[in-house]
Amino acid sequence: TRNDHVRIVEVGPRDGLQNEKQSIPVATKIELVDRLAQTGLRTIEAGSFVAPKWVPQMANSSEILEYILRTTAQSPQPITYQWLLPNRKGLDNFLSVWESGSSSQQDAASAPSIELSIFTAATEAFTQKNTNCSVAESLHRFQPIMARAKELDLKVRAYISVALGCPYEGPNVDPHKVAELAVSLLEMGADEISVADTTGMGTAPRTAELLKTLTAAGVENNDLALHFHDTYGQALVNSIVGLEHGIRTFDSAVGGLGGCPFSPGATGNVATEDLVHCFHSLGLKTGVDMEKLSEVGEWISGELGRTNESRAGKATLAQ
Ligand code: HMG
Ligand code: MG
Repeated sequence: TRNDHVRIVEVGPRDGLQNEKQSIPVATKIELVDRLAQTGLRTIEAGSFVAPKWVPQMANSSEILEYILRTTAQSPQPITYQWLLPNRKGLDNFLSVWESGSSSQQDAASAPSIELSIFTAATEAFTQKNTNCSVAESLHRFQPIMARAKELDLKVRAYISVALGCPYEGPNVDPHKVAELAVSLLEMGADEISVADTTGMGTAPRTAELLKTLTAAGVENNDLALHFHDTYGQALVNSIVGLEHGIRTFDSAVGGLGGCPFSPGATGNVATEDLVHCFHSLGLKTGVDMEKLSEVGEWISGELGRTNESRAGKATLAQ
C-alpha cells in the first residue's frame, strides 16, 4: 500500500556540502548528484542560490543546474532536483539558468523535474543570523517567489529551521510558533513543509509533542517532511516518532554529511544509509539500493577527507 512507502529527500549535495571549509570542485559535486541519482533516490536537493559572501561553497550551484538541465534523465527513473533560495535575487539567479536551460531541452518528457525550496525559522535570533531579517520579513520575501513559482508551475517546499531547538534561544522552541508558521506557509502556497531540527537538540517526547501540535493546528501529515540533524544521535529515534505519527517524507544526507554554517556546533543530517536501513527493517519501501548508496557515502567521505558518519553504510560495505 501507499502507506508502506517512504519518500526520502536527499539533501547531501546542498546541506551536506554547504558547510565544508575547503572549496569542493564543481566536478565532484556533479559526480555526487549523478551517483546519488543511480541509487534509486527520487528527490535530490542539489544546490542553493544564496549570497556567495555568506555561503561561498554554494556559489557554483548554477553550474550544477546547467549540467542537470543539459544531461536529461540518465537515471533509471525520473528524479526531482530541488534548489534552495532565500529571496528575489536567488530566484532571479535560478531563473536565468533554468529559463535558458529548459528552453533548449528537446524532449520535455525526459526532462528532470525541478522544484524550489525556501527557508525560514521558528526563532527571531536564528532567522537574523541565517538570513539577516526577521521572521515576518522572511515571509514577505517569499511572496514574489511563490507567485512566480505558481506561474511557472514549479513546486515549492518550505523549511522551518530550529523547530526543536535554537543555537541562540535554546532547546525549548515553542511548538505553536512552528505550527503557526507551517499554516502561514501552506496558505501562501507552499506544497510541503520540512520541519527541521537544525541543531539536533530534538528528543523523542518533544518531537511527538511538536507533531501533535502541528496536527491540532490542521497541518496534514501529507504536507509535512521531517529534517533531522544528528548532533545528539537522536535523529533515527525522532524519525521513528515521525513515522508512528504518520509522516512519510524524511530528509537525510548520504554519509551523514552536513551542517548549517549559522548553527554553531551542529553536525550533519541523519545519514541516508541509516534511515534506509532502518526503514527497510520495518518493512517499508524506499526504492533505494542500500549497497549502491553505501558506496556513494564512502566515496564522498573520501573525497572530502572526512570519516564516513553512516554506521549502516560502513557495516553494509564491510559485509
Ligand atoms: P544580505 O547581506 O542581508 O543581503 O543577505 P542583501 O540583500 O543586503 O545583499 C547583499 C549582497 O548579497 C548584494 O551583493 C546582493 O546582490 C547579494 P553586493 O551588492 O554586495 O555585491 N545577494 C545575493 N547574491 C546571490 N544570491 C542571492 C543573494 N541575495 C543577495 N540569493 C541573504 C541576505 C538572505 C541573501 C543572506 O543572508 C543569505 O544568502 N543567507 C543564506 C544563508 C544560508 O544559505 N544558510 C544555509 C541554508 S539554510 C539551512 O541550512 C537550514 C536547512 O538545512 C534546514 C535546517 O536544517 O534547519 C534548510
Ligand atoms: Mg539542514
